[in-house]
Amino acid sequence: MKTRVVVLASGSGSNFQALIDYSNTKITNYEIVGLIVNVPNAYALARAQKHNIKSVVIDHKAFEERSLFEVALQNTLIEMGAELVVCAGFMRILGAAFVAKWQRRIINIHPSLLPKYKGLHTHERAIAAGDKHGGCTVHFVNAGVDEGEIIAQTKVPILTGDTAEALAARVLVQEHALYPQCVDKIARDLLKLA
Ligand code: GRF
Repeated sequence: MKTRVVVLASGSGSNFQALIDYSNTKITNYEIVGLIVNVPNAYALARAQKHNIKSVVIDHKAFEERSLFEVALQNTLIEMGAELVVCAGFMRILGAAFVAKWQRRIINIHPSLLPKYKGLHTHERAIAAGDKHGGCTVHFVNAGVDEGEIIAQTKVPILTGDTAEALAARVLVQEHALYPQCVDKIARDLLKLA
């Protein structure tokens, strides 16, 4: 038996791709059963199609209130049989009521060494602060933004003359290595609980 994973994305979905590739090349405790995007032209959709993964667009702009968007999201997750929700570049803040339904069953990857640099422009801020390292963090999602319990981190050195783009690219390589391993470990823990 494998843990049923649904990925939430808003853009390119390179982390989604890393999760697909890992599960296609290794024996894993998870299977990706669906993709949900909130942006109708997100490139992640093409990746899902290529790999025959069911995808659904839930355009947040079509809803007057966040809570209604989240009802649609919840219904789709249930329809897909989600057991673990994996945010991968999903650019919507999720409300407390929604997150409570998925406590310790929803995770995110963030491009900084949390608790430093929650929110956007993480690499610019790390370089501007003169930090020696940037990196990425996998964490459980709770009602705070980028505040849930930390699961794992990878440090990436900041080089002399680094730009945010160059650092982001090097961090992204590490995200692709770290996220599938974390998803697999949590999937295994959930199977033990079942
Ligand atoms: C990644 O840097 C991730 O850490 C952040 O958004 C970016 C998503 O990239 N949350 P992608 O869509 O997975 O390529």
